[in-house]
Amino acid sequence: MLERAKYLLQPSARSAVPPFVVMDVMSAAARLEAQGRHIIHMEVGQPAAGAPATSIAAAHAALSSSALGYTEALGIGSLRRRIARSYAEWHGIDVDPARIVVTTGSSGGFILAFLTAFEPGDRVAVPLPGYPPYRHILAALGCEPVGIETTASTRWSIGGESLLARHRERPLKGVVVGSPANPTGTMMDAAALAELIGCADDAGIAVISDEIYHGLDYAFRAESAARVSPNVIVINSFSKYFCMTGWRVGWMVVPPQLVRAVERLQQNLAISVPTLSQIAAEAAFDGRAELEAVREGYEENRRILLEGLPAAGLDSFLPVDGAFYLYADISRFSSDSAAFAARMLEEAGVAATPGVDFDPLRGGHFLRLCYAGAPAQMREAVERIGAWLKGWPR
Ligand SMILES: Cc1ncc(COP(=O)(O)O)c(C=O)c1O
Repeated sequence: MLERAKYLLQPSARSAVPPFVVMDVMSAAARLEAQGRHIIHMEVGQPAAGAPATSIAAAHAALSSSALGYTEALGIGSLRRRIARSYAEWHGIDVDPARIVVTTGSSGGFILAFLTAFEPGDRVAVPLPGYPPYRHILAALGCEPVGIETTASTRWSIGGESLLARHRERPLKGVVVGSPANPTGTMMDAAALAELIGCADDAGIAVISDEIYHGLDYAFRAESAARVSPNVIVINSFSKYFCMTGWRVGWMVVPPQLVRAVERLQQNLAISVPTLSQIAAEAAFDGRAELEAVREGYEENRRILLEGLPAAGLDSFLPVDGAFYLYADISRFSSDSAAFAARMLEEAGVAATPGVDFDPLRGGHFLRLCYAGAPAQMREAVERIGAWLKGWPR
């Protein structure tokens, strides 16, 4: 019986998405910690802090007073209104709460957005380097991710010209952009975002804007694509600025004509987003003072790394504008970032993510350092990396 099941159940071709190399770094770090080594974790992209106290209190209260049944598929009305209000507060724009869809993290938002906007076989541009699930979710849904290598000339984001050049080769149906971006921490300014969206709109290319790192912008204010065009699908989340990764709650701003399609998909795929998480998320908007203090900690970490890493030997990064990532060029030392990261972990006790996770072409030359930890850890990381790199030929 078991033999037969083994034969019948084989993974589908569409499920063959690549794994994360960073998982190997995490397992190796755990092995070293089990041997008593002290490891500085700069590999995982999540806040060290938990949800704000306002969210925890709201969740406690809901646990004892509510049956926590399903909610409407688009989300609890008061949460959708609160999210819509945040666009007036943060970006000075009116967004109709009817366009807000609550999702299971931004990850759930990507599935809904891609299913709503694209057909199997559609070509969708994604930035390289870029967040790997953009490519992998698209591929699993039968779409064709088209990587566009970003360069210094467009400040490491997709520019309108390079988008249109790929579109002329073979038509694109969509483009995914993220600002601040993962893994680079680099941002598009308002003009760059408007230029890209303008080119895409004119060519009939749908834009999906991942704004999950909004609120964590240090070099200049992050612009929302919702301010630029009503045609864009904006994706956001409570995971990063709001420190709620494990609660799995995010949102989308959807063009009006797509709302009903997204609602039907959400009804069928998830019914609704976990009710407790939605209640806690709404209360997170009242925890701004606590969240701003966390953000100030990241700014301090960013300063420590920008001042310390060049002297330690890592002196070339992409613009470190926002999020909590620094994408360092290690080509002076190695063209094999996976091996470099493994050695840095073993010998310096600092865990980082090799660039190959984010860019199959040039990622061997880069390392992503996440600075969401404590300032003391950042100082120690700089010291350890400096001492370790002294042994390398320059
Ligand atoms: C750029 C980017 N988008 C989306 C996500 C997914 O986040 P979540 O599903 O927790 O909202 C992440 C997580 O690291 C990310 O870095």
